[in-house]
Amino acid sequence: MENRQNRFIKPDTEKKIDTLLAKMTVKEKIGQLHQLGTSPVGGFEISKNEMKKLLDAGRLTKEDYDNWMSNEQWDENEGLVRAGEIGSFLGRDKDPNFYNHLQRVAVEESRLGIPLIFGNDVIHGHRTVFPIPLAESCSFDDETFEKTAEIAAKEAASEGIHWTFAPMLDISRDARWGRIAESAGEDTYLASRYAAAKVRGFQGEDFSDKDRIVACAKHFVAYGAAEGGRDYNSVDMSMQKLWNTYLPPFKAACEAGAGTFMSAFNDLNGIPCSANTYLLRTVLREKFGFKGFVVSDAFSVGECVAHGVAEDRKQAAELCLNAGVNMDMVVGCYRDHVEELLNEGKISEDTLNEAVREILRIKFAKGLFDNPYTDVESAADILICDEHRKEALKAAEKSIVLLKNEDILPLRKNAKIAVVGELADDAEEMLGCWVLGGLPEETVTLIDALKLRGIDFVYEKCCGVKTDFNREAFERAIENADIIIATVGEYRDMSGEAASYCDIDLHGEQKKLIDALYNCGKPFVTLLFNGRPLAIRDVAEKTPALVECWHLGTEAGNAICNVLFGDYNPSGRLTATFPNYSGECPLYYNHLNTGRPTSEVRHSSKYQDAPIKPLYPFGYGLSYTDYAYSNLSAEIIGDNISVSVDVENAGKVSGTETVQFYIQDVVAKTARPVRELKEYKKVYLEPGEKVTVTVKITIADIGYYDEALEYIVEPGEFKLWVGHDSTTELVTSVFVK
Ligand code: GLC
Repeated sequence: MENRQNRFIKPDTEKKIDTLLAKMTVKEKIGQLHQLGTSPVGGFEISKNEMKKLLDAGRLTKEDYDNWMSNEQWDENEGLVRAGEIGSFLGRDKDPNFYNHLQRVAVEESRLGIPLIFGNDVIHGHRTVFPIPLAESCSFDDETFEKTAEIAAKEAASEGIHWTFAPMLDISRDARWGRIAESAGEDTYLASRYAAAKVRGFQGEDFSDKDRIVACAKHFVAYGAAEGGRDYNSVDMSMQKLWNTYLPPFKAACEAGAGTFMSAFNDLNGIPCSANTYLLRTVLREKFGFKGFVVSDAFSVGECVAHGVAEDRKQAAELCLNAGVNMDMVVGCYRDHVEELLNEGKISEDTLNEAVREILRIKFAKGLFDNPYTDVESAADILICDEHRKEALKAAEKSIVLLKNEDILPLRKNAKIAVVGELADDAEEMLGCWVLGGLPEETVTLIDALKLRGIDFVYEKCCGVKTDFNREAFERAIENADIIIATVGEYRDMSGEAASYCDIDLHGEQKKLIDALYNCGKPFVTLLFNGRPLAIRDVAEKTPALVECWHLGTEAGNAICNVLFGDYNPSGRLTATFPNYSGECPLYYNHLNTGRPTSEVRHSSKYQDAPIKPLYPFGYGLSYTDYAYSNLSAEIIGDNISVSVDVENAGKVSGTETVQFYIQDVVAKTARPVRELKEYKKVYLEPGEKVTVTVKITIADIGYYDEALEYIVEPGEFKLWVGHDSTTELVTSVFVK
């Protein structure tokens, strides 16, 4: 496969960079390495309207507010831009006129006219908000992964954003970690396909196109393995686990041509990622061939002091710049210390020049020297247009996972319905954990969608995510109902960054609501709105129907209603394992067998106080129809394993099945996972339709990095497990020579 990184190396561009470097002063070079927020408060910015919220909430005095907003800070930023001492802004304001204003100062008033690059967290949409990444990954749909990124790029670019801090590619096996919400789940293969699709979506063939933005593979690396699922915590793992599990999605993003990477907050085996020469130079640049630039995660250069590897900010700057971080996000260590370090010989002229070169290379590739300004008029026709809403609806429908259904769903449209729970009617909560542009007033809740459909329903909140259960309201709501829809789960800020929870069951008195439903004698369906797998064993046991609705974004309510009433046959499949109890985390399907494989036997690898199977496994998801598998066969043809299986829609409604192909390297020098996803294919089947699905798995792709970190494919038996989810028993074998 072509490594698209090589497309960044263009002789004429490199010559232009040479010319610029020869002219740049040291301060101007350091300016390219310095990124600030655009709004005036602190190092890590908040937007003007959030400033106003702080003022209105009494958390800022009027004097402070006026002082900050009095253009004093803006002037300072302009002054630094005019002096060429800032190269990038992290945009919180989404105000293209303001970006253009700063850009004009840079291009037309600074000595060398080097344009700024504006970055922002366009994680799952900009103004049109798509399902959170963990939800969208459950679609197992590469076209969706790419399409939503393409739309997000177009909307963000129309508002002056050149660069997104996405895709987030951290393999996430511990549901206590809030940022699992931003990930593509626990599987390396799926996350690698997701990575390439997202880079294609954001960047297109050429990210100088006005509708495209530069991608940023983050958080490099292994941030999802934070010990205990506690955010920002240490990560300690073997190099083999790093190379076999955590690096592949980043390699995929690099080969797909991601223009930037972001170094992670965590240490890896004691060395902070932002100060980690092995990661940033040996792995990323030498082995992956990366030619773009690395931005640190917020403050993480300065945090090397807290990590205990730098005496002070100056040494932190020395370590990180020498390790390969080009741009210091908002903490100002490079701005404050690189010149001194240069004079002291602790940073070489070459290191500084190379760091600047890589940033300028991406600025040239983005076309900023030729087209530095945003056409602010274009945004109006693009933001949250009908076409984008339609794509948001499709993505949301495909992200919904039906977890249980005892003949409750789909609902009859003329049923008398009661709806209970706070999340049924909270638009802001539907937007999920990383939203900077989505507006609640443009978001469809479940209640909105029921009204839009003219459904006969009553709604009582009855119970909030963290507030008490109101039995009186509950009794009132269900009195005349044929069926009840319960909405429970998490607020959107209970997942995402700085949202680790040691208890990932339902919070507040939501379980009282479920108990009341269980005892009321009427049928009900429970909808989950959450950003992580929840340990909801007793909820799952009590509810006759259970639908994973995540935080689905702008079209949440419409997608959920389409599933509830059968207009869309649910097709989502879990990409992260649901544990029975929080204490089982981390829990994932592609584990090693151990010498005492988990079983009913006492002396086997398990918890004595938990079932030996997860609540819901990787790849799991129900449908309104049934799929039957048969005739599995596999044979080695040349460099590939050709695998075929018949899949039949054995039910009464059409639907889309995700056929999953897992391998198992039965005996290897190093123990290998009991199963590893190596292919998936979606097939749409009418009732009674039967197709033969054939895939080719390249033999080179079923190997692993051994203890010497050599990539090897050992001869021997490989089992192929094929089916509906990671627990399928349909298996055959091939023997690799
Ligand atoms: C945050 C996040 C990172 C984000 C960056 C800029 O702390 O860790 O994912 O892109 O700062 O907002």
